[in-house]
Amino acid sequence: MDCARLWLGLLLPVVAALDFSYHHQPEMEAFLKSISQNYSSITHLHSIGESVEGRNLWVLIVGRFPNEHRIGIPEFKYVANMHGDEAVGRELLLHLIEYLVTSDGRDPEITNLINSTRIHIMPSMNPDGFEAVLKPDCFYNKGRENSNFYDLNRNFPDAFEFNTVPRQPETVAVMKWLNTETFVLSANLHGGALVASYPFDNGVPATGTLYSRSLTPDDDVFQYLARTYASRNPDMRKRNPCRTKIEFPGGIVNGYFWYPLKGGMQDYNYIWAQCFEITLELSCCKYPRKEKLPSFWNENKDSLIDYIKQVHIGVKGQIFDQNGTPLPNVTVEVQDRKHVCPYRTNKFGEYYLLLLPGVYVIEDS
Ligand SMILES: *[C@@H]1O[C@H](CO)[C@@H](O)[C@H](O)[C@H]1NC(C)=O
Ligand SMILES: *[C@@H]1O[C@H](CO)[C@@H](O)[C@H](O)[C@H]1NC(C)=O
Ligand SMILES: *[C@@H]1O[C@H](CO)[C@@H](O)[C@H](O)[C@H]1NC(C)=O
Ligand SMILES: [Zn+2]
Repeated sequence: MDCARLWLGLLLPVVAALDFSYHHQPEMEAFLKSISQNYSSITHLHSIGESVEGRNLWVLIVGRFPNEHRIGIPEFKYVANMHGDEAVGRELLLHLIEYLVTSDGRDPEITNLINSTRIHIMPSMNPDGFEAVLKPDCFYNKGRENSNFYDLNRNFPDAFEFNTVPRQPETVAVMKWLNTETFVLSANLHGGALVASYPFDNGVPATGTLYSRSLTPDDDVFQYLARTYASRNPDMRKRNPCRTKIEFPGGIVNGYFWYPLKGGMQDYNYIWAQCFEITLELSCCKYPRKEKLPSFWNENKDSLIDYIKQVHIGVKGQIFDQNGTPLPNVTVEVQDRKHVCPYRTNKFGEYYLLLLPGVYVIEDS
């Protein structure tokens, strides 16, 4: 027995675990490629486009059927580092990838999640910005914007005001990506605060801006989603962990109430891509020392996993004609929850509606 134990001790370090440090583009690519080779049956690595400076925008998909959509399996995504100087989310997503693939077949909870969900993970939407950071700092830094100096979280079409900002390659790549899959749930990882912020980020009086908030017809769902993340993160759920002027009871806030912004990604996802997205601010310091990364992973791991599971709340189904042919592009909406752009079935006739337990009238047309 002692002998066997000794062997284990010697052998374990050979399977190199991902280290807790910041991974620049070449190291990140090497890691993602290595994962996609070692776990080829449950992962699929692809690039959705290139940054201004020609870096690939990598997405790793984890799922039992990673290469394509399957009927009834919802598509989930995480996107980090759209502000290049907000670095924690980027590393958390690499650790999440490692955790998911190494838990498959060992941990029933993760195995079940991989069986039932197709999880798309984009560790960096702004790789040029990340590389542009000269001296890591807690506050605003060179590298927030892309290399044409545009803030990508102000760069999307906006439903409430005309957004004249020239659309950037990273934004265009994400918009095209959103058209290729029926994403149901998403989160966008940032730093510089500790709070889960939910749509809308912009608004008009009809969405409640007179009361300095801007709420969606799915506000109950969004608050629940934000709370799901925040309540499992021991620091985020505190009222004012970063000791700033504004407090966030429960660790959640309506984006507009915090500060209105035009051209944000979460509003775009919800309004045009039928995808519920929230914004996760994960660290008071935008680019903390790497020694802090293990504690960020420990504080966010459960939240990251639990949030993915929420893609299964509500109802899903398929619409057919009388011959049993799936009907795409049919509006399927819940009464009194009309979306700016009505939610429609995808090319397989599927719909996914995130709802809390209750009684609803669902209308199709
Ligand atoms: C992939 O497998 C090789 C060979 O076992 C190992 O050296 C490498 O660390 C693994 N990579 C990852 C990311 O797990
Ligand atoms: C997951 O799927 C695999 C392969 O289809 C199956 O063998 C396994 O029982 C499933 N596990 C869980 C927990 O759903
Ligand atoms: C879906 O239906 C709408 C309204 O009925 C129509 O304007 C649109 O072109 C259709 N889209 C597709 C892809 O068929
Ligand atoms: Zn940010």
